[in-house]
Amino acid sequence: MTGGLALGPYVLPNRLFVAPMAGVTDRPFRRLCKRLGAGYAVSEMITSRPELQASLKTARRANHDGEPGPIAVQIAGTDPAMMAEAARHNIDRGAQIIDINMGCPAKKVCHKWAGSALMQDEALATAIIEAVVAACAPHGVPVTLKMRTGWCAAVRNAPRLARIAEDAGVQMLVIHGRTREQGYGGAAEHDTAALIKTLVRIPVVANGDIDSPQAAARVLRATGADAVMIGRAAQGRPWLFRDILHEWRTGQAAPPPTTAELRDWLREHLLDHYALYGEHSGVRSARKHLLWYLRALGGPRAAQQRLRAAVIAAKRAEQQLRALEDFLDERDAAPAGAPMALPESEAALLAA
Ligand SMILES: Cc1cc2nc3c(=O)[nH]c(=O)nc-3n(C[C@H](O)[C@H](O)[C@H](O)COP(=O)(O)O)c2cc1C
Repeated sequence: MTGGLALGPYVLPNRLFVAPMAGVTDRPFRRLCKRLGAGYAVSEMITSRPELQASLKTARRANHDGEPGPIAVQIAGTDPAMMAEAARHNIDRGAQIIDINMGCPAKKVCHKWAGSALMQDEALATAIIEAVVAACAPHGVPVTLKMRTGWCAAVRNAPRLARIAEDAGVQMLVIHGRTREQGYGGAAEHDTAALIKTLVRIPVVANGDIDSPQAAARVLRATGADAVMIGRAAQGRPWLFRDILHEWRTGQAAPPPTTAELRDWLREHLLDHYALYGEHSGVRSARKHLLWYLRALGGPRAAQQRLRAAVIAAKRAEQQLRALEDFLDERDAAPAGAPMALPESEAALLAA
């Protein structure tokens, strides 16, 4: 489980990946996940529409400064020629791997027939895959495909599309174990990934609801997949990658992060975040990460409440950083063995 994985000319250091999540897996978060053990990270999806490629949002999404390679960029769109052009455009800007998004269920994407909606139109999906592979091949850039199990329960065509993709030259498949119809509801199933693994020779990655070392090991064993990919469980808990690798390597649960480690990781995350978004936007967009950290860390209730209030009220980066330091100090000073207050629910945190 701990060996590397070849992807085109690259060897990924391990089989534990962080999933692309729009609005979450920006460069600062990807860097931190990789630092804490994630063997591979893909950018948030980038539109293939040329008129949007110069926007600030797209430019930030395409920013990979200081990120350890290989640099993987996910593209989304509905038009084969535009997708091919988007692949070339991103390769010119440093992409070393191009990932095609056929997994995103968001209406914004689906109404334009992108993301998982493409799974409904296999001819168009094939044309897009072939066009992107043709655009990437001259540059030696591998193409990967991320998809769901199908459009709906009655149409689980991921196995057929997997074969089509392999024949067209795709070099790795990621399977999120839900249909498009399911959105994020219900439990992910990994039988489809297991089936696909028996049908293709390229690496298959299983994704969906993996949130612990045990779950990661269980899914790898049950599917025979080459790797697992983790999304939501890493929000506010990027050290999950370290915990999983530790347990895979030693058979023992990883010790909880020390206050010094947390201070180092979270401070680095925030500083990188402010650097990418600028102080004004960065202080606001860092809130969700801080509230997720709070959810993951727990701590004395009063300290949690103070941090939450300060995170929301802060206008300056310095105020947010100070509030975080104070929280970690208070959490650290909680009497040894004293039970940590239960972290508040995500809904309560984010409603603030
Ligand atoms: C907030 C959010 C944004 C997402 N954005 C993308 C995206 O841009 N591209 C994509 O392929 N999948 C996207 N996904 C799906 C995830 O990559 C992943 O397939 C899904 O969350 C299931 O994995 P998990 O249970 O480990 O979270 C997103 C998921 C979330 C929660």
